[in-house]
This record gives sequence, C-alpha cells and structure tokens, in this order.
Amino acid sequence: MFTIRQLSIISFLLALFTAASALPLAVRDVFVPPVTYPHAGTVWKVGSHHNVTWDTSNAPAQITNKEGRVVLAKGGILDNEHPLAKGFDILLGRIEVKVPDVEPGKDYTIVLFGDSGNDSAEFTITK
Ligand SMILES: *[C@@H]1O[C@H](CO)[C@@H](O)[C@H](O)[C@H]1NC(C)=O
Ligand SMILES: *[C@@H]1O[C@H](CO)[C@@H](O)[C@H](O)[C@H]1NC(C)=O
Repeated sequence: MFTIRQLSIISFLLALFTAASALPLAVRDVFVPPVTYPHAGTVWKVGSHHNVTWDTSNAPAQITNKEGRVVLAKGGILDNEHPLAKGFDILLGRIEVKVPDVEPGKDYTIVLFGDSGNDSAEFTITK
C-alpha cells in the first residue's frame, strides 16, 4: 500500500512527465468536491429522506480514495460514529440519506469525505 504522501509524489512525477508533452493541467491529487445540497436556508425534518449532492465536475482522473462518507455535524462537531452514508462512489455526485432523530437546531452541517473533507453551509433540522 502507498501512503497518500507517496501517491502525491508519484502523481506529481507523472504530472511532470506529461506536462512536457501535454497541455499544462493543474496538479490535483486531492479531490475535495464542494457540497451543493444542503445549503444555507435548507430545512430538514427528522425522519425524512434527502439527497445530499456535491459537484464532481473538477474530479481528477486519478482519485486516491473514491469511497465516500457523509457525516452530520452540529456546531462543527462531527458525529463520526453514525455516518449518514458510507461506502458509496464519490463520483456519484449524490447520495440519499435519512435525517436522524437529533435535537432540532440551526447549526447543522453535512461533511463529505473522500480524499478529504468538505462541509456544507449551516442548515436547519426540525422535528
Ligand atoms: C469546500 O468547498 C468550497 C467550495 O468550493 C471551497 O471554497 C472550500 O475551500 C472547500 N473546503 C476545503 C476544506 O477544501
Ligand atoms: C434521490 O435521487 C434519486 C435519483 O435522482 C431519486 O430516485 C430519489 O427519489 C431521490 N430521493 C429523494 C429523497 O429525493
């Protein structure tokens, strides 16, 4: 197994090689797709189903970790023990989740993990 650091070095070297012959492309070894839904103003009801969505348009050809995970956070505190979804392909661009039975609040965020994490804007969960 390669570490992420080793993979970064390898992809950097590969990029150097291809840069000589191909158009210069930005070196992106870490894919951090921005979460597009939920967004500011979104209200979710406990027990309902929603599609979390994210933008995959900047996905590099090589992704070190394609396995996605969606975690709910309140006030910036992640509930890593109970991911809302996991083991899906990060290139899907959406994943359906069920809103868990949590305290109502206006400071919830969704954090999407693949190579790295990206969090949504704060949104509201009601009973
Ligand atoms: C998450 O995505 C937003 C929107 O593209 C971006 O501004 C932000 O830098 C990203 N966060 C991380 C940790 O990469
Ligand atoms: C989520 O998206 C899929 C595919 O578009 C759709 O079939 C499903 O009904 C959506 N779920 C919700 C809760 O909107």
